[in-house]
Amino acid sequence: MMKEKLMEKIVALCKRRGFIYPSSEIYGGLANSWDYGPYGVELKNNVKSAWWKANVHNREDMVGLDAGIIMHPRTWDASGHTQNFNDILVDCKKCKARLREDHIHGKCPKCGSKEFTEGRAFNLMLATHLGAMADTSSKTYFRPETAQGIFVNFKNVIDSTSRKLPFGIAQIGKSFRNEITAGNFTFRSREFEQMEIEYFTKAEDADRCYQQWIETRFQWYIDLGIKEANLRIRPHAEDELAHYAKGCSDVEYAFPFGWSELEGIANRTDYDLKQHAEFSGVDLRYQDKVTNERFYPYVVEPSGGVDRATLAFLVDAYHEEEVNGKIRTVLRLNKKLAPVKVAILPLLKKNSDIVTMAKNIKKDIQKDFVCVYDDTAAIGKLYRRQDEVGTFYCLTVDVDSLGDKQVTIRDRDSMQQERIPMDRVKEFLNTNLRN
Ligand code: GAP
Repeated sequence: MMKEKLMEKIVALCKRRGFIYPSSEIYGGLANSWDYGPYGVELKNNVKSAWWKANVHNREDMVGLDAGIIMHPRTWDASGHTQNFNDILVDCKKCKARLREDHIHGKCPKCGSKEFTEGRAFNLMLATHLGAMADTSSKTYFRPETAQGIFVNFKNVIDSTSRKLPFGIAQIGKSFRNEITAGNFTFRSREFEQMEIEYFTKAEDADRCYQQWIETRFQWYIDLGIKEANLRIRPHAEDELAHYAKGCSDVEYAFPFGWSELEGIANRTDYDLKQHAEFSGVDLRYQDKVTNERFYPYVVEPSGGVDRATLAFLVDAYHEEEVNGKIRTVLRLNKKLAPVKVAILPLLKKNSDIVTMAKNIKKDIQKDFVCVYDDTAAIGKLYRRQDEVGTFYCLTVDVDSLGDKQVTIRDRDSMQQERIPMDRVKEFLNTNLRN
């Protein structure tokens, strides 16, 4: 399938089936802003849970945090964002398009002209005011990264958990950037969610931790079903590094619009803790309990985007195949990510006994697995509907079920059907969905 076509199809599917809608659509939309619909929110929540499980619950060396979106304005002076978090923008002299200087490659992508205004720095942070007065004293920002919420709480976490190095603090939350260039669907949004880890370590261990985190984070995407051929690691060149980083490597995905960053893993050195100590006047050094030595730990930061990961999972799962002369669209999402695990479909909605039986089965299994009930079309159409949103199993109840107390379970990917006793459905789902 043509790559441009694939992206178009995914955007259309997301809107039609309730994964992702344009923001404020009834008002004509809002540039680079998106809303997640009923299936989208389930998928996104599953991405976040899988990340939290892998990076917090399944490890001994990690704790979680949920800091506020709006922080003390001095935070952004200390972090360097007020001075350095800029895009350099130019205007095309012919068509007046405003463009990022690093995106133009010598000529305007809109009209081909080679004449531009001088570049000007444009800060990406979204400003707001707190309190009754909208003057400079009340100015602050919506956070452009969740990371700083972790650094300013470093001492709190140490004091309240007695953690020893190396250890990490993980956080998932919204971040905001005033992105002005076109965004490739949700890839570049103004409001997005990040999944970030700040992993604190002794300076001499930082390079090793950096390499380990690159491997761990790369493998996470593969474990959740992304094809390895569609992923790569790209180390940053010196001149690409952020103002705080000693090294950085991106996990990139082969999106239909080209290889693009899913996540960056950076060695942030001791820059942030030192900066916050200087700006706040609070001693943020770590004290080794055995040697009593005090020092600033180094930080390795795996920083991913929930929206970008969700988009990559959608793109990678999208599949079309011909079945009985018709095109079947199926989202082959990993079972951990599929928004719905089981659809309960009665074969004859006019038969009240079948409907009652189907609804009772749903009531029983919805305690453990996300399921839906649908009786609004013929079975072939119901299957196609579920395939398109990636529902892992369809369970049908028919006339025979009333007598033999068996139901049919259909596998999304193979479309194989299996008849199993009703009282073994839970066991079947536990075996096949949980491992
Ligand atoms: N704390 C480091 C940091 O924020 P970043 O490379 O600017 O680094 C990290 O952002 C991740 O956040 C990116 O890899 C991407 O997944 C996500 N991200 C950044 N800007 C985004 C945007 N405008 N829209 C969607 N996701 C974004």
